[in-house]
Amino acid sequence: MFGVFQPCQTGCQTKVLHYFIGIMKIKTLKTHEKLAIHGGPKTISSPFPGRGLIGRQEKAAVNALFDEAIRTGNAFGYNGPSEERYACEFAKFMGGGYADGVNSGTTAVYVALRALDIDPFTEVIVSSITDPGGMMPVAMLNCVPIPADTIPGGYNTGPEEIEKLISPLTSAIVVAHIGGEPADIEGIVKVAKRHRIPVVEDCSQSHGAELNGRKVGAFGDVAAFSTMFGKHHCTGGQGGVVFTRNEKLYQRVRQASDRGKPFGLPAGSTNTMASLNFNLSDLAAAIGIVQLKKLPSIVRRRRGFVARLARGLRGLRSVSLPLELPGAKSSYWFLRMRFHPEQMNCDKETFCKALAAEGVSLNPCYRAAMPHLMDWYKNRRVFGRSGAPWMSPLYKGDPQRRFPCPNAMASTAEQFNLTLSESWDAKQAAAILRAIEKVEAAFGREK
Ligand SMILES: Cc1ncc(COP(=O)(O)O)c(C=O)c1O
Repeated sequence: MFGVFQPCQTGCQTKVLHYFIGIMKIKTLKTHEKLAIHGGPKTISSPFPGRGLIGRQEKAAVNALFDEAIRTGNAFGYNGPSEERYACEFAKFMGGGYADGVNSGTTAVYVALRALDIDPFTEVIVSSITDPGGMMPVAMLNCVPIPADTIPGGYNTGPEEIEKLISPLTSAIVVAHIGGEPADIEGIVKVAKRHRIPVVEDCSQSHGAELNGRKVGAFGDVAAFSTMFGKHHCTGGQGGVVFTRNEKLYQRVRQASDRGKPFGLPAGSTNTMASLNFNLSDLAAAIGIVQLKKLPSIVRRRRGFVARLARGLRGLRSVSLPLELPGAKSSYWFLRMRFHPEQMNCDKETFCKALAAEGVSLNPCYRAAMPHLMDWYKNRRVFGRSGAPWMSPLYKGDPQRRFPCPNAMASTAEQFNLTLSESWDAKQAAAILRAIEKVEAAFGREK
């Protein structure tokens, strides 16, 4: 603008100068709009559309089950035709294998470990960033959870981080693919095979995510999925799936999920192990069948939304998208964002508070997903006051061992999670970007 300024007589020069100063003031005011956190107008004043996950088709599927029950006089139950079909469709979605519906992601992890027949008082290496339901089943099996740090800058653990923790006590590894991003499961499986340790993939947050063209859950020995209502696809309010490509292991999965019933064993066999009843109901499976049909489109739309956001973020300096693994095609349960404090005159907490006040849905710090920092783990509260499995004389490891996980602490300190929905499109992406721009303009350091 000042490049075209032509000086004339002094009076005229002053007037023009004042004119430009005026324009600059207006511009400054515009780029430093009052933040909502300081009483200004919210960028996003009306709520974004809901996910619309459940629709008429799910209702029709459930009604059909009721109609059938009323017509025949026979109640719907579990291990029935709906669950069988859901399990078949799920295995097909995974590219072949065997699936068993269970009643939560937590029980899916439990059943997967149970099917592997690991011994009590051994150690199970688990992701340090995961849901409590991804770690507690280890302790419920009287095994010691050993949290593995994440890779630098990530939420997922990696082969190096896991290999450091392997000992003669290690009986299994549980790898969570967090936020829809595949962990380096190829590298992890390689390490595990070298040490002859089975791998459970926890895909609760990563339905449909791929690494090098293969769906996560198809790399390890067995995989667990949560299908509660907040996940990519659901089986109603809650549910889960255990998936494996190994037929023998599948029979053990079925036994472990239903009080040791002798699935796959010769006629006349009796219940083969003590377990609980973790079955998925046929009613839930009927919903799951419909949901599975929607899953590819849900994943595609989430990827599209993230691509849109990524394009818009290129011109911004307050946040960026952390690198993903080469060969990964994430399914984005949420979106990790790295905050750049060196560019801002505020810390991440203030930035996130300001963004949230503008109407952006986010989780400012994912440290709440580090189960080994929680009271149950710190106070060893699993089986009454016994302190077991850590304090049992049968555990031969160090019960006082600490797991500082510096990479996970750094990742959760530097990053925050943006909420995503497959129902959001260009309009919502633009609104989120506008909110980030507004907060960035208010807190940005002088360039
Ligand atoms: C990684 C992971 N594992 C396990 C679970 C437990 O699943 P559920 O809530 O269905 O028991 C969750 C739930 O969010 C999860 O994110």
